[in-house]
Amino acid sequence: MNPRQLATDVLAKLDVNEWCEKVEIAGAGFLNFRVTTPAVASELEAAVRSGQLFFKPSASPRPVVVDFSSPNVAKPMHVGHIRSTILGDSLARVLRLLGHRVITDNHIGDWGTQFGKLIVGWKRELDRAALEKDPIGEMERLYKKINTESETNPATLEEARQELVKLQRGDETNLAIWREMIALSQVQFDTIYRRLGVRFDHTLGESFYNPHLQRIVDELCAKGIARESEGALAVFFEDTPALKEQPALIRKSDGGFNYTTTDLATLEYRLNTWKPEEIVYVTDGRQQLHFQQLFAAFRKWHPNMPIKLAHVWFGSILGEDGKPFKTRSGETVKLADLLDEAEERAFGVVSEKNPDLSEAQRREIARVVGIGAVKYADLLPNRQSDYVFSWDKMLALQGNTAPYLQYAYARIRSIFRKGSEAGTEAKSGASIRLAAPHEIALAKHLLHFGLVLEAVAEDYRPNFLCNYLYELAGLFAGFYENCPVLKAEPAERASRLALIDLTGRVLKQGLELLGIETLEQM
Ligand code: ARG
Repeated sequence: MNPRQLATDVLAKLDVNEWCEKVEIAGAGFLNFRVTTPAVASELEAAVRSGQLFFKPSASPRPVVVDFSSPNVAKPMHVGHIRSTILGDSLARVLRLLGHRVITDNHIGDWGTQFGKLIVGWKRELDRAALEKDPIGEMERLYKKINTESETNPATLEEARQELVKLQRGDETNLAIWREMIALSQVQFDTIYRRLGVRFDHTLGESFYNPHLQRIVDELCAKGIARESEGALAVFFEDTPALKEQPALIRKSDGGFNYTTTDLATLEYRLNTWKPEEIVYVTDGRQQLHFQQLFAAFRKWHPNMPIKLAHVWFGSILGEDGKPFKTRSGETVKLADLLDEAEERAFGVVSEKNPDLSEAQRREIARVVGIGAVKYADLLPNRQSDYVFSWDKMLALQGNTAPYLQYAYARIRSIFRKGSEAGTEAKSGASIRLAAPHEIALAKHLLHFGLVLEAVAEDYRPNFLCNYLYELAGLFAGFYENCPVLKAEPAERASRLALIDLTGRVLKQGLELLGIETLEQM
């Protein structure tokens, strides 16, 4: 059909006078809609009345599992884990706000060959005092020592292998050591999660699935999905071109199970327990092949299961030299040190700008700004590209940063403080009158909030929300420079107070979805 004719027919049946100016046909058959200012104003009034901020809870809420963070026992959480934690937490928050039943699960690495070496080190030369002072540091030292030694000494490697076998067979001594290592690591993880404001519904580590691995391998073999290959067992994907040469190992030739085996058992458990319609895995890009294999193997195992499986992957964090982000002495940066430095630097900036605030106030502002800056820097870039870590950039008060957004919010709050001193407060029944171009632009942008949240949930990309909020803060700044608020005449003042109140609430809600706190005063 001729597109222009189609546009004309559609137009003839359209009744959008309530919201739109006259609809125009343009070009090859486009329809141009222009929302009327009164329609925008009445949407804002509805939001003032209901408190509902321009998004609708999903019409078809679904159970969604989000698997994120997932650090490894006896190792410090490094900046690589920060992206998974921050990104996963933000996605869980957005999905939850949209009405979905979100289940978060921290799939910690608490099983695997590293425990053989760790146990050898622990038995030979554990330094109890060091363990009490810095448990992760001491465990890391033991691991590194035995790992280096086994590179040149086959006897050590064999010893580690035997300790691992003993652990797997349920040897009491080794199990007790292993449990202690998990408990000590969990304390460190929890400290970091508390600082980041992240929580999990479940923390089911890899070891939780051990009792099911043999059964699953047997089932896959019996169904002809897995078969032997050079002494090991593997699932082959002859009919998937990208994976043709990439079978997934599910049992090694020495009888040990693989990462994929555990993940198959995990999938089965989650499906049986929580009945999700969607499972989201947040890890770095180097695990792409693993998840392609996992999903393909699962589809062979359960061909008709209606479940959406998504691997949400991300790139690396680079130093300002463009190489992987390291400390000055060339070691991987530990997450706890990174957060300390963020708060310390923010404290410097706050103290310089607000020397009159008490130390306790400046510390609290520095905490919110510092942690917020790190999170935002991580969420802002397209997650699949690498990004360069820069303290100066992320802590800047100007530019697309958390402090800039937090400052816009604090500024709105300060207008209300001044207003209430002067006896003008936002009234819940205020009628919205939009006339100045800057206020219309700000009001229209507010209406997009819900669309942006849906896009974030659909593509698993919180950066859409970052950019939306940055634009919102910019439009607010333009409005505030051009339109008097407290000095406007009463009806206009009430309308503008309501407009900036909504702006502040969307900013706060938006930042909260990114896991970022706001301050009443900065
Ligand atoms: N522990 C793994 C790592 O540090 C991440 C686990 C991700 N989740 C999963 N179900 N495989 O790389």
